[in-house]
Amino acid sequence: MNKSLIAVSALGLIMAGLAGVASADVSKAPTKKITVFYPGSSGMEWIQKGLEHSGAKGVKKGEACIACHVDEKTGNEESADIGKKIVSGGMSKDIALEPTPIKGKPGSIPVTVQASHDDGNIYLRFSWKDTGFNSGKKMDADNPIKVGVMLEEAGKVEHDTVGGCWATCHTDVRTMPGVKDDKKTKYIKDGNLAAGKFYDLIQFRSGKGQKPVDGYIADKRVMEGGKALTDAKGELKGGIWTVTFTRKLSGGEGDVKLEPGKLYNFGFAIHDDHTAGRYHYVSLGYTLGLDNAKANINVMKQ
Ligand code: HEC
Repeated sequence: MNKSLIAVSALGLIMAGLAGVASADVSKAPTKKITVFYPGSSGMEWIQKGLEHSGAKGVKKGEACIACHVDEKTGNEESADIGKKIVSGGMSKDIALEPTPIKGKPGSIPVTVQASHDDGNIYLRFSWKDTGFNSGKKMDADNPIKVGVMLEEAGKVEHDTVGGCWATCHTDVRTMPGVKDDKKTKYIKDGNLAAGKFYDLIQFRSGKGQKPVDGYIADKRVMEGGKALTDAKGELKGGIWTVTFTRKLSGGEGDVKLEPGKLYNFGFAIHDDHTAGRYHYVSLGYTLGLDNAKANINVMKQ
């Protein structure tokens, strides 16, 4: 091999290396469709009420929401039907899960979810067609759109794998029907940061500056203190919203450490139309793992 050939092949290696970095682009990762739907006031206590939620018995036996509501083989979900009924104020066994409906609000949003990781970070990408819905009410004047993601190490918290984000959502928190307390936020039973009993919570806010928000939910919801989220950015382009999170696999207090071989509970929510509190769209609970075929969302190394 002469010198210039060696130089060329060395350059080739460098180029391949660069291409390797470029291919860690989460927009190229496998896609999964997950429909987020309007849950109204269906907190964990409602989910467990046999007289109101037909799935309560299954939940008590430890069946996860998606076991009944999503056909993982076909990707069919009832979420769109559920959301449509609840958002319009429809009755379920004589109760309306949304006593104060926002007129014309769509019941669900189909979202394309992508995830990948490298040695240091996990990348999460959410894209969906903007609904264009505008109620004119601005509960959160600063942010037209917010995307929240929750992560939890499976098995740490009561109802976690069975309930997904519902384990943090209770019928006695603020903005729930009949609740006078305007301070009480999401929480988990026996929530305790030091004992690892918490849900990690990261959030994208579309308002000015788009500062990533990294918090957690233990005995209450805290929207700061996390060190894992390094970036959360989003844009609306050609009628499509795309939001991408860059999060360290490691983390500090209030951050779930993501390790190969473990399963994590994963759920996400979208607030559109400047909404706040429970007036959002949510996903059912899914499991997530790094290079783990057992996980509903298998985050592969790129
Ligand atoms: C054992 C099966 C099963 C499990 C597990 C289950 N559900 Fe259900 N769920 C049902 C059935 C059946 C209905 C009634 C469907 C209908 O009315 O068309 C229902 C209805 C609902 C509704 C809509 C109520 C309405 O107005 O019709 C919501 C919201 C809901 N489930 C959420 C959940 C969540 C969240 C979980 C997990 C924490 C869950 N379900 C777990 C079976 C289940």
